[in-house]
Amino acid sequence: EPGARLKTSLISLLDLSHESLDFALRLAAAVKRDRPRGRSAPTTRALDGRHVALLFDKPSLRTRATFEIAVHEIGGHVVVPAGDVALGARESLADVARNLERWVAAAVVRTFSQQRLVELAEAAPRLVVINALTDEEHPCQAVADYLTLGEHWGSLQGRTLAYVGDGNNVATSLVQAGLMLGVNVRVATPPGYELPEPVIAAASAVARHGATVTTTHDPYEAVERAHAVYTDVWASMGQESDAARRHADFAPFQVNEALMAAAGPGALFMHCLPAHRGDEVTDAVIDGPTSVVFDQAENRLHTQKALLLMLLAPEQCAC
Ligand code: CP
Ligand code: NVA
Repeated sequence: EPGARLKTSLISLLDLSHESLDFALRLAAAVKRDRPRGRSAPTTRALDGRHVALLFDKPSLRTRATFEIAVHEIGGHVVVPAGDVALGARESLADVARNLERWVAAAVVRTFSQQRLVELAEAAPRLVVINALTDEEHPCQAVADYLTLGEHWGSLQGRTLAYVGDGNNVATSLVQAGLMLGVNVRVATPPGYELPEPVIAAASAVARHGATVTTTHDPYEAVERAHAVYTDVWASMGQESDAARRHADFAPFQVNEALMAAAGPGALFMHCLPAHRGDEVTDAVIDGPTSVVFDQAENRLHTQKALLLMLLAPEQCAC
């Protein structure tokens, strides 16, 4: 890629300033509005002639499809190295990164440990690395989720989101972004599945507008008067062998009509998907009138387009 540019990557939401997170949501809303204009949308050529590599160590429908479409719609091209050569099985991760930085502007990476993304970024200082989910965080998901909430609520500050389930990657990014945006987040997990204490502390340190995170082992306490209820699978990718034990531990944390009733009539239902219907959520809830799960899925596209523009073509979006 010709030209030097300022190194920036999105490995954690904690990498973003409050201003850039606010801006990402505004820009995402703008590119969403412009999408019906097709090739006459203003950012159609923003990545002209540039490439973005997609490196996925784990399965994906939404993240992979929406990054491919986003890159294409802003004029770039994706490169998808085969899984067996992509992420450090055939040559070191550092060498993969040093090759990629000679060819592509950015690498969108889904892998296991967050530390692998840090190593990739450190080995290739000119490569923009974007976290497409690790065991620890899922930043692109959370940005899309708060765009969705902003659309439905009108504003974010002072609202309350209840997350019910595993203290996992999705929960971590929701807490980080929520506190940065002034949304109170309540997290209900079974004992032994809490969010790590350092996650709570680091997110609390960047809270704005008096937002707080509270934790409990009681899902009913978490959802009381909440404006939205969010859940995720009980066993994440890589935890399949633990699924039977988790199924038993999480059974009281199912989001069903009784739990949604406890939240109150207007409470939105959210899920990052894929959902295991009948486990963490019932059909009646995910297909119910306040479910916004496909709005979330749609907004993955718009928010990732905004993040790509901010990272790779800041001059095109007055970032
Ligand atoms: N929500 C989400 O990241 O979906 P995929 O795993 O299908 O990408
Ligand atoms: N927590 C889930 C999210 C999938 C998008 C997982 O990591 O498998």
